[in-house]
Amino acid sequence: MRCLQMRRKVSALAWCPITSGARHPGFTGLAGGLCWLIWPLQTYVILAVLMAGALLGDDRRRRSSIVADAVKFSYRRTRIRFRWSKVMQAARLQELRRHPGMADVFVCPRLMHAHWWSHRFTWRRWHTRTRQTPTGITITVDGTNVGIPHSGFEGASATAIQSAFKAHDLFVEKHPKWSHLTQLTLVYLDPFKRVVKLAELTAHQDLGTVNIGKDGNGDQVSMNMLSIQLIVGASRSGKSSVCWTILSGLLLQKLPFRLRVLDPKGGVEFFDLDGIAYCYESDILKCGEFLKTAVLALKTRQAEMKAAEVRKWTPEHADRWPLDVMLIDELLVLVSALKGQKVSILGQKMDATDLLTWYMSQGLASGCMVIGCTQDPKKETVPMRGLFTSSTCLRVESADEVRMAGFNPDTHPAHEIPFGDKHAGRAYARTDIGVKQLRAAYPTDAERAKIAEGVLLQSRIHWAADRQPSNVEFVSTEELVTNGAQK
Ligand SMILES: Nc1ncnc2c1ncn2[C@@H]1O[C@H](COP(=O)(O)OP(=O)(O)O)[C@@H](O)[C@H]1O
Ligand SMILES: [Mg+2]
Repeated sequence: MRCLQMRRKVSALAWCPITSGARHPGFTGLAGGLCWLIWPLQTYVILAVLMAGALLGDDRRRRSSIVADAVKFSYRRTRIRFRWSKVMQAARLQELRRHPGMADVFVCPRLMHAHWWSHRFTWRRWHTRTRQTPTGITITVDGTNVGIPHSGFEGASATAIQSAFKAHDLFVEKHPKWSHLTQLTLVYLDPFKRVVKLAELTAHQDLGTVNIGKDGNGDQVSMNMLSIQLIVGASRSGKSSVCWTILSGLLLQKLPFRLRVLDPKGGVEFFDLDGIAYCYESDILKCGEFLKTAVLALKTRQAEMKAAEVRKWTPEHADRWPLDVMLIDELLVLVSALKGQKVSILGQKMDATDLLTWYMSQGLASGCMVIGCTQDPKKETVPMRGLFTSSTCLRVESADEVRMAGFNPDTHPAHEIPFGDKHAGRAYARTDIGVKQLRAAYPTDAERAKIAEGVLLQSRIHWAADRQPSNVEFVSTEELVTNGAQK
């Protein structure tokens, strides 16, 4: 333990000058050259110590990637300094240069303060800065020098600046402290490009809320499980991965739950959960029966909760009444399979679709929630769309589908997410604090196997509990009669 802390300290000490050197190569070269001229031997010793510290220290990969980022930043900053005047002219923000033939940085461009000497030696250092950010560069400019307000940098000028500096995105903001200054944030790194590993997610502090991915700042995005979730996404957009991530989150929180899986596409997605989930069904002809079991369980729970005078289920009740999760992989297939089916329940014949609607509207108060995945969120295909209290939109085909999923295609353009497995898992999710863009975590096959193991342990507990006789009288063991399906 002590040794590890020591290594960490050595590492931090050795890598700090290396990173700063990478960020300011010109200054480092000059200083290094000077030192070498004066004390060549000492310079060798210092270099050797730094190298040894870097090699012996811990977390070398992460630290070397920080150095690589610093090198990239310094290259981009130099490019910005040298091209500033030209780019400003292209953006119609500065008149023609009066000293043709000289590099911009020597000409005193009034707008850009990236001018290294004014940057270093004037007392108004804050005036103008080029700063490294996790996703790119922030340039602080003083438009008042040449009479340009903040809005002058927006619109067409912003597009010209962004394209000239080859950035993904450009944000124009007022300086938080000095309102006459404008901050131009150039984003070079697409934060959603990186695949988020499942191991990067932690257990959420609130019981019943799970982390499913990360947003643009690298913060975790959570999903409240006490809601009816709709997950919309085209084929191979990452719906099933989100479901596995949710299960992993529940296991991480150690919240007792029982899982019902309905995989009506014929058991292609969740076949690993066959015999592992508390209830599993992949035969579309048996969906009615599956639903009936769930409804009877809900009724039993409602009766028990009423007897115990519990009005609303909360995660604190999970020890007695575990969270009941129903996972439906393709709502579209389920809805068409249930169409016209009648289920006989407690001596009554009911429409199977009505039964599902009833389950969704009544379940929440008793800790029975539903996660429904669908490729096609249209009203005709998902008649109970209004019952979903929360939704997540992965890549979809059209702006119309984004709207159907409950998002605004202008501000949350899920239809513009690029096609392909490389971009699967990018999504917009409605959370407690508004809509967030995120990259969902990706569980590998080994991680899925581990999750399945955890689910099996949970199921075993509930299977054993079911064997004990229940004293709620209306639970009937009558045979199911599904219309046309069986019996
Ligand atoms: N969060 C993610 N990050 C990176 N890649 C992902 C992610 N989710 C899914 N993928 C990739 O996309 C493929 C399809 O994902 P899947 O969850 O089966 O999509 P769907 O269920 O929507 O058809 C996976 O095989 C995987 O390669
Ligand atoms: Mg799927």
